Amino acid sequence: MLAKNGQKTMVDNLKPPAAVTIIGCGPGAADLITLRGSNAIRRADLIAGSARLVETFTAESSAEKIITNKNYSELFARLAATQGETKVVLLVSGDPLFSSLGALAIKKLGKENCEVIGGIGSFQQAFINLKEPWTNYNIISLHGKAYHNIEKIFADNAAFALLLDPKRNLKYIKEAIGEAVGSRYLYTVATNLSLPDEEVTELSYDELGTHPEQSLSILIIKKKPPEPLKGEASIE
Ligand SMILES: C[S@@+](CC[C@H](N)C(=O)[O-])C[C@H]1O[C@@H](n2cnc3c(N)ncnc32)[C@H](O)[C@@H]1O
Repeated sequence: MLAKNGQKTMVDNLKPPAAVTIIGCGPGAADLITLRGSNAIRRADLIAGSARLVETFTAESSAEKIITNKNYSELFARLAATQGETKVVLLVSGDPLFSSLGALAIKKLGKENCEVIGGIGSFQQAFINLKEPWTNYNIISLHGKAYHNIEKIFADNAAFALLLDPKRNLKYIKEAIGEAVGSRYLYTVATNLSLPDEEVTELSYDELGTHPEQSLSILIIKKKPPEPLKGEASIE
């Protein structure tokens, strides 16, 4: 805020704004971050992010590092307390505004104090791997969501992708939906996308209960095409 004479006011001097750049780092591979994101990391004095992101994207930086865990209030208080001249970046996975700590950071720190640099979402990477357009898919995150209605999600969508987490996993989906509805869909699980142990596997409804679970997984679900009626003549 400027006083009438154009000088900074006392308030500005007491509470300098936090200027935090939130960077979407993409699905995980070191070469899938944007050039803009990687330049911002190179210039940063203070870098916050999960152990995985800090390890992958900041090896060459001598900036101070904060490893984020679930103690977000402490993290935001620390980021808000930085002086304007400290270049602070917050690394988040995938797209920084989809089911992301990036959105919470903006809420807590204020839009005016944040810049955002986009990144490829993990769900985008899943469809890139499948070489399938996702125009008609609804993308739904179950990550960390205590409340959701799986039956309604299946009833409302013919094609959708679910971002899973260790609790809301394949077994959980199988049990929540049940065989009568669940067996009408085709499933593909995309795990650890862009990372060395990446796996993309088609599964039947039954296999949802036995496929090995991984913490970074997306389940892509599509209604099976209707079976031809018995006795229907084929067209040659
Ligand atoms: C908190 S959400 C973050 C989503 C992120 N903003 C994005 O756009 O991908 C975390 C979830 O994203 C998905 N995810 C993130 N990275 C992934 C990857 N490399 N492979 C598969 N799923 C991934 C998983 O479902 C994981 O539980």
